[in-house]
Amino acid sequence: MKQLVFVTNNPHKLKEAQSIISGDFKIISLAEIGCEEEIAETGDTIEANASQKAFYVYNKYKVNCFADDTGLEIEALGGRPGVYSARWAGEDCSFENNIKKALEELHDSTNRKACFRTIVSLIIDGKETQFEGRVDGQILREKHGISGFGYDPIFQPNGYQQSFAEMHPDEKNLISHRGQAMQKLMEYLRGIK
Ligand code: IMP
Repeated sequence: MKQLVFVTNNPHKLKEAQSIISGDFKIISLAEIGCEEEIAETGDTIEANASQKAFYVYNKYKVNCFADDTGLEIEALGGRPGVYSARWAGEDCSFENNIKKALEELHDSTNRKACFRTIVSLIIDGKETQFEGRVDGQILREKHGISGFGYDPIFQPNGYQQSFAEMHPDEKNLISHRGQAMQKLMEYLRGIK
């Protein structure tokens, strides 16, 4: 079985990837290759960040790997926070702080359109391939639900009456940006096995 390192320290993401990517590839964590350092994310796009993280691990540890990066893009805010979604409200901000900022910046704007985009950057034998997952939806006027993380309580995907935070995680993973990018990665891996 071939091994692929997922460049993440998030056990939930690791588990999600392991449940999607089965077959010939075994997905292992950074801890399993002894990588404990903080990996820089200094790109100004999510494409650049995903690439930077994956190449860091590939170049230092000489292992085939993939990294992901996600941003929430709000149309009325010109695509912000985008690549800065994690620390939008400040360096040590909470999810709650970010949600508050989103609601304040949008205020009573009637254009609530937004999307989550995930880029997965896969590096096999030094060759990079990127996959994109995207889900379009609306920013709600207040929080709904308590499940999930990040901006989930204020994001309602198009075609649904619930926010991401009101959905069962399995339901969210089926349609989410990250879920879609992981599915594309899996289809690609199936083709090259
Ligand atoms: P990351 O690149 O996966 O670390 O995501 C960057 C930031 O985007 C996170 O810190 C969250 O604020 C936000 N984010 C990413 N994925 C989701 C999601 O599925 N729901 C809500 N917020 C998310």
